[in-house]
Amino acid sequence: MKKIAVMTSGGDAPGMNAAVRAVVRTGLHNGYQVYGIYDGYEGLTNGDIRLLGRGDVGGIINRGGTILGSARFPEFKEKSVREKAIEQLKKIGIEGIVVIGGDGTYRGAQALTEMGINCIGLPGTIDNDISSTDYTIGFYTALQTIVDSIDKLRVTSMSHKRCSVVEVMGRHCGDLALYSGISAGSEYIITPETGFHKQLVLDKIKESHNVGRRHAIVVVTEHLLNVSEFSQEIEEFTKYETRATVLGHIQRGGDPVAFDRVLATEMGEYAVDLLKNGKGGRAVGLKGMDLVDYDINFALSKKREIPKKRYGLVGRLS
Ligand code: F6P
Repeated sequence: MKKIAVMTSGGDAPGMNAAVRAVVRTGLHNGYQVYGIYDGYEGLTNGDIRLLGRGDVGGIINRGGTILGSARFPEFKEKSVREKAIEQLKKIGIEGIVVIGGDGTYRGAQALTEMGINCIGLPGTIDNDISSTDYTIGFYTALQTIVDSIDKLRVTSMSHKRCSVVEVMGRHCGDLALYSGISAGSEYIITPETGFHKQLVLDKIKESHNVGRRHAIVVVTEHLLNVSEFSQEIEEFTKYETRATVLGHIQRGGDPVAFDRVLATEMGEYAVDLLKNGKGGRAVGLKGMDLVDYDINFALSKKREIPKKRYGLVGRLS
């Protein structure tokens, strides 16, 4: 193999740049030509592929977002679209790709591998919803952003004796809500894993109000409920004045924390080694202290382990 490529796809995540840098520099170290594919599968299909040098990835390890750009491109599910992408790769002679993204990205990588281009998937998403890794690239940075925001909300909540309901991202995974709820000392977390038991939450918040606490914080994973409407219900039932905050895409921005930079760098190097050994259709993950790789199909179908003990913590300590 002489030519490899790297791309980012799906929602961007802080630390993607560190992974791109590691892939490019490890590739060059191994004597490969390394190409950047711009704007994910969409750019690949349209042939937006450029040769990268060492300097092109200089000064990016500390930067959020992705210098390669990213896109959601559901059209890639169609075989005819993928065939166009394969043609673009064959024109240049690219034999392997490191793709950085979430589960949709992994599906594309698996399909391309089946069509003859070895692909290695790196878990790049703030959601931490990929079961083949303990942590995804970007999760800890987004978590820190959320915790910083909730700390600020707490200040004003306490001044006004209010309850704050905070909606965080995560798609269908409650890890951002769980870990931020623990870190920010919240009263209650509502996640896909816990389900939404309205009366339990209302009772808990009322109890806080009745014992004279100056504030209460509820962290909610997106897509589960309407936080504005729920805030009104809390206010009516508990007598806490209540405000809703949707953190939104702020959570995806910001410079990657050190953990994400290290994880991304190690995974980037590991992915190139897999390509070098002729592997394709593999998903790289962190398990405990070690990097591992799994068949992408297995990674996509594996059930996520739910950190049950951590869920208990919020209830016990609030
Ligand atoms: O997967 C990352 C993520 O930020 C999710 O948490 C969120 O549901 C989704 O992407 C938002 O997607 P978009 O940026 O396309 O609106």
